[in-house]
Amino acid sequence: MTDRKRVVLAYSGGLDTSVAIRWLAEQKGYETVACAIDVGQAAPGELDRVRQRALDCGAVESVVVDARHEFADEFVAPAIAANALYMGKYPLVSALSRPLITRHLVAAAREHGAAAIAHGCTGKGNDQVRFEVTAMALDPELAVEAPIREWGLSREGAIRWAEERAIPIPVKADSPYSIDENLWGRTAECGILEDPWASPPEDVFERSAALDAAPDEPDELVLAFRAGLPVALDGKELDLVALIAEVDRRAGAHGVGRIDMVEDRLVGIKSREIYECPAAVTILTAHRDLEDLCLEQELAQDKRGLEGRYAQLIYNGLWYTPLKRALDAFVAESQRYVSGEVRMRLYKGQASVAGRRSDIGLYDHDLATYDAQDRFDHTQAEGFVKLWGLPTKVWARRQGAL
Ligand code: ARG
Repeated sequence: MTDRKRVVLAYSGGLDTSVAIRWLAEQKGYETVACAIDVGQAAPGELDRVRQRALDCGAVESVVVDARHEFADEFVAPAIAANALYMGKYPLVSALSRPLITRHLVAAAREHGAAAIAHGCTGKGNDQVRFEVTAMALDPELAVEAPIREWGLSREGAIRWAEERAIPIPVKADSPYSIDENLWGRTAECGILEDPWASPPEDVFERSAALDAAPDEPDELVLAFRAGLPVALDGKELDLVALIAEVDRRAGAHGVGRIDMVEDRLVGIKSREIYECPAAVTILTAHRDLEDLCLEQELAQDKRGLEGRYAQLIYNGLWYTPLKRALDAFVAESQRYVSGEVRMRLYKGQASVAGRRSDIGLYDHDLATYDAQDRFDHTQAEGFVKLWGLPTKVWARRQGAL
């Protein structure tokens, strides 16, 4: 170990975090430990190149952590249980990964004796909030550096700065979009997407087919859930990472999961966002439907009321907070009997429920049927309606306007 203070940087392999390594050395006197967290964003082998790139850019150490199962089991799983969609639409792709990435940074900081952690976020987004608030929760005394936010350099400026110093920045064909990706989905911003009236060009998308290229025949898949979590696909038990990947592939082939929205960022900006989440849309649609079958109605109603709030807490960087924890306990309890199967039909951009069944579901055919085997006691309905309507009747007699 040298005397220079160390910082653990969340390293993506992109331009910003690559130049940040040198900037942290020159401006702040840090030596950098680069840390790339695998949450399912890259093709196999690519993160090895990312690891090497950090060293080429001047990091003293560079590590890649395979956190895919942790991400699926500890972050995506509760989001499924809670049907978490921000503004009713966004499956929280980036928002779910930031607390996990930060948890790894904090652990690495301890392991490597670092004085600080660092992220490559700008000052306009939500991710800076998620990194820093998570760090506050996990280690309130740990310093956080935000080189890109502090530096405020343009893309061209960063490239020039790197060239002057012969830093081997990633030179891959410049994408006009800003992308974040993991196994739960893919996000795209910037470029032409900043015009909310303009349709997203086809080159934005990678995980879903265009509607006119999607097959004319539908696909059907059966998702089995146990206590609120998907555990099998078409009768085959799979771990959550494998299950999500497979559903993503099959739903994506039918153009499922494209989301185009104007989003309220925590920092006050409305932004146009394009998401691609074939597995998330399919699994959440199935899960919600199974809950309709399995949850008692009072519980279901209150759970629906809390789901939006839960999603908002995650979006706003409040993963590790007392309210989030309390809601987790509620959600976990609610999932106890959410077990069964949902048959999903994938066709031309839609993932729709084609059928559902559960041995412990609350659907009782003999109560629901209009056929002869009807066991519903019609004689009790009369008294029930009278008492149910009694307050309305009293009001109408005394004060009713009509
Ligand atoms: N707007 C989305 C969110 O706040 C996506 C963020 C994507 N992050 C990124 N660094 N490109 O969750």
